[in-house]
Amino acid sequence: MILHNEFGSDNHSGVHPDIMKAIESSNKDYTIAYGGDKYTKRAIKKFKEHFGNNIEVFFVYNGTAANILGLKNVTDSYNSILCAETAHLNVHECCGPENFTGCKLTTIPTLDGKLTIDSIKPFIVGIGDEHMAQPKVVSITQPTELGTVYTSKEVKDLADFVHKHEMLLHVDGARISNAAASLKKKLIEITRDVGVDVLSFGGTKNGMMFGEAVVFFNKNLSKNFEYIRKQGMQLASKMRFISCQFEVFLSNDLWLKNAQHANNMAKLLYENIKEITDLKVTQKVDANAIFAIIPKKFISILQKKYYFHGYNSEVRWMCSFNTGEEDVLCFANIIKKTLSGK
Ligand SMILES: Cc1ncc(COP(=O)(O)O)c(C=O)c1O
Repeated sequence: MILHNEFGSDNHSGVHPDIMKAIESSNKDYTIAYGGDKYTKRAIKKFKEHFGNNIEVFFVYNGTAANILGLKNVTDSYNSILCAETAHLNVHECCGPENFTGCKLTTIPTLDGKLTIDSIKPFIVGIGDEHMAQPKVVSITQPTELGTVYTSKEVKDLADFVHKHEMLLHVDGARISNAAASLKKKLIEITRDVGVDVLSFGGTKNGMMFGEAVVFFNKNLSKNFEYIRKQGMQLASKMRFISCQFEVFLSNDLWLKNAQHANNMAKLLYENIKEITDLKVTQKVDANAIFAIIPKKFISILQKKYYFHGYNSEVRWMCSFNTGEEDVLCFANIIKKTLSGK
């Protein structure tokens, strides 16, 4: 276990040793580029073991590309994409979604990062009116950017609702493994089985060096994606180095073990800080993130010892697959001491 003074983000962590080994051992020979290699074939097979045969899966370098290119493939420039105000898509993709898809991003306020039927309903308007953007996709993040996890029923209700309006459900699953671990369900049960159409499947935040996948659960939706990926500059020439990681990631429950550990560490931190006076946890700790409000003056004091993000009085503490238990307990202790002025 690597020790690290860090609760900034799960992608501040390094690479899982098994993934590193996979990269190393796929580095021995010459092989065909652009996905024609044996590693990519085997990785796609792994995806099919988890999600069923009738899918199309494409590898890209990063999560932003998975989201944007996946969405571009299923929209036209006159469409709108509905997402939470807090969505990575809206806040941290530098208007890439708008730029690449040409679509309007319709952003919806939430209290906990989750969209609901009631919250999206007022924005599904103007269908058939040539003066208005035509709503096409609802995009949710699972787990949300606020660390909360949609139940399978919540996702299914949303999927049924959007399908009734001839729209699609996209899931930004940069941390989908953490959601599956939290819900104690298989990956397919929280995605395909509950009506998700397109999934951005994350690897980087859960122990991979780099690499994400776009998974289409309906083959009609994936048509021409290979061209969109190339135009989007995400067709990896040495694709084997993404594929070999996914093969190992999706074998022997590595994806689950890593995610479960990250979630467990967040729970442990929560248990050890929840009673602190002057600290209020603001969101349910469903996965690997904790959001809390603490007196503002303590944020910079804590940040001198541990890296993490703070927004005004609210802090975000994230755990990863290699967060150590001792680190968590030590951090909790320091939070306790700092807030009590010791
Ligand atoms: C929810 C979510 N989606 C997508 C991404 C994008 O990932 P990347 O930084 O690899 O483009 C992130 C990264 O922080 C994220 O948190």
